[in-house]
Amino acid sequence: MKFFLDTADVEEVREAVAWGLLDGVTTNPSLVAKTGKTFREVLCDIAEAVPGPVSAEVTATDMAGMLDQAHEYADLASNIVIKIPLIVEGLKTVKKLSEEGIKTNVTLCFSSTQALLAAKAGATYVSPFVGRLDDIGHEGIELIREIRTIFDNYDFGTQILVASARGPIHVRDVAIIGADVVTLPFKVFEMLAKHPLTDSGLEKFLDDWKKVPQDKKPEGGA
Ligand code: G3P
Repeated sequence: MKFFLDTADVEEVREAVAWGLLDGVTTNPSLVAKTGKTFREVLCDIAEAVPGPVSAEVTATDMAGMLDQAHEYADLASNIVIKIPLIVEGLKTVKKLSEEGIKTNVTLCFSSTQALLAAKAGATYVSPFVGRLDDIGHEGIELIREIRTIFDNYDFGTQILVASARGPIHVRDVAIIGADVVTLPFKVFEMLAKHPLTDSGLEKFLDDWKKVPQDKKPEGGA
């Protein structure tokens, strides 16, 4: 499974790249708004920092406007993927961009029939939002299971990019189902590596190690 960071903060991207575990980045208008930088500045910095796809979201809601923004963003760097909302104008835009060979990520997906349409339109990725479904009392994870089954039934190449993942349990569940990608806030990415028993176990080993008589280093050795 690939790991993307859901952020517009280039420092977080650089840190995750240094771990050697990051495959890409997703951004959205709300995340960009927090940086105080222009969208172009954010995109260029992140696209340079990560050797993988970077999703840039359009804000137009009609096909002509979406296509204009898509071409503008795609020209900024070769790893930019155009993120498009799952509305009819968006699906028409995805179809056109896929014919042009421009990669797309169809976002704000909340049902498996929406995902099916995104795949038929030729999307590179579709982003179902698990956390926001949980928030309204639905089972976000069930949506991932349904989409996996449908895409496998018809051999769709569209990758399932799980978005709005809120914690390690979401990551475990979507990995078991076989999602292709999960995008995570940096703090959730960090949580995946942590366990209190790892920390207390390491502390005990290091304390006990101090009690082990140490060999003397040979003098004058090279
Ligand atoms: O980028 C889209 C998605 O990951 C947002 O997550 O936590 O705002 O529902 P959240």
